[in-house]
Amino acid sequence: IDEPPHSFISNSLSVDAQTLQKQIDELSTFSDTPAPSVTRILYSDKDVLARRYIKNLMGLAGLSVREDAVGNIFGRWEGYELGLPAVATGSHIDAIPYSGKYDGVVGVLGAIEAINALQRSGFKPKRSLEIISFTSEEPTRFGISCLGSRLLAGGEALAKALKTTVDGQNISFLDAARFAGYAKDQDDLSSVFLKKDHYFGFVELHIEQGPILEEEGVSIGIVTAIAAPASIKVDFEGNGGHAGAVLMPHRNDAGLAAAELALAVEKHVLESGSIDTVGTVGILELHPGAINSIPSKSHLEIDTRDTDEKRRNVVIEKIHESAIAIARKRKAILSEFKIINQDPPALSGKSIIEAIEAASKELNLTHKFMISRAYHDSLFMARISPMGMIFIPCYKGYSHRPEEYASTQDMANGVKVLALTLAKLSLQ
Ligand code: GLV
Ligand code: MN
Ligand code: MN
Ligand code: MN
Repeated sequence: IDEPPHSFISNSLSVDAQTLQKQIDELSTFSDTPAPSVTRILYSDKDVLARRYIKNLMGLAGLSVREDAVGNIFGRWEGYELGLPAVATGSHIDAIPYSGKYDGVVGVLGAIEAINALQRSGFKPKRSLEIISFTSEEPTRFGISCLGSRLLAGGEALAKALKTTVDGQNISFLDAARFAGYAKDQDDLSSVFLKKDHYFGFVELHIEQGPILEEEGVSIGIVTAIAAPASIKVDFEGNGGHAGAVLMPHRNDAGLAAAELALAVEKHVLESGSIDTVGTVGILELHPGAINSIPSKSHLEIDTRDTDEKRRNVVIEKIHESAIAIARKRKAILSEFKIINQDPPALSGKSIIEAIEAASKELNLTHKFMISRAYHDSLFMARISPMGMIFIPCYKGYSHRPEEYASTQDMANGVKVLALTLAKLSLQ
């Protein structure tokens, strides 16, 4: 088979951005909170409907669709050279509470449109092209981020832990998966693992979730590295009691222990001296949660990240020391300090970076190299395949909030770069 020159592909690529926009709007209606916010939690009714929507579009694009035991969805366009490792792309469609329509979704619906555009151009893939819609990139329900890609990349420990993992309502992971039609007759999730080099490369299209591309008027961000994320769960316990009757010297208020730890997180992060170190207490719950009752239990969830793994680990260590010291000082009990994940950063693959850069140049789109401060499924795909990411600008860098927005033009640019990148990798 004669391979068409890349310039032929780039000249004949037409992206249907209107249809893509319409699909993004439609998908956003599968939400548990009212527009413009989107809330789509793993294995909920809305998640199941959204999955059906994606599988239908994959089918319409002529892809063969498969799902694994945790509901990672794969849509495959078979290449003409059978047996070569495929080139994969994809992202996620779950959405944290009260977030927006674009995070993750652009990388799934945009991938389907990239494949459609390649098909319209007459392109024939040599290596197969595969789209992956990953299960639960967001940690909302079970506290585990990038659940699907972590497992794909061979998460033995995670596969084991998921057998006993429950959500906030005490519903087990396996029951929730079965509700959505997955993990049918198996408790063993090792069938999800993919071998190293199963894919020739992995590319993820995503909104930047930061302000740089928009501020600088650059169309395409080429990600060179993804920062190292970690998350921690902490519980304090005290005696609780009557808010009027128990005098101040006799209290061991679990709520104040939590408040003090939240401030300690900020302090330790700032002490790192680097703008790249961040820490957030996004969950802080008090029990029993009554105005006239001293909190007898408190629960915090702490997210901390850095481009430098060692520096982030120092912060985690200091947070731990603070938690112990605060409990001692307040005569409360530190009943749990659990590091849920403590992931290293990932570097993009040279081959993928080069393909994205060449595609951007051929399409006459301005580009810049950047790091991703948010994590993505690419962080875990990097464990089994060379990985790269394409960022597009988003309004004011807003993300994880309802005002998240990317223009149709910027999405069209991103989809074109993705399509051409996939074509190039497919022919290698
Ligand atoms: C993923 O959504 C992240 O928090 O980076
Ligand atoms: Mn997100
Ligand atoms: Mn995302
Ligand atoms: Mn994310």
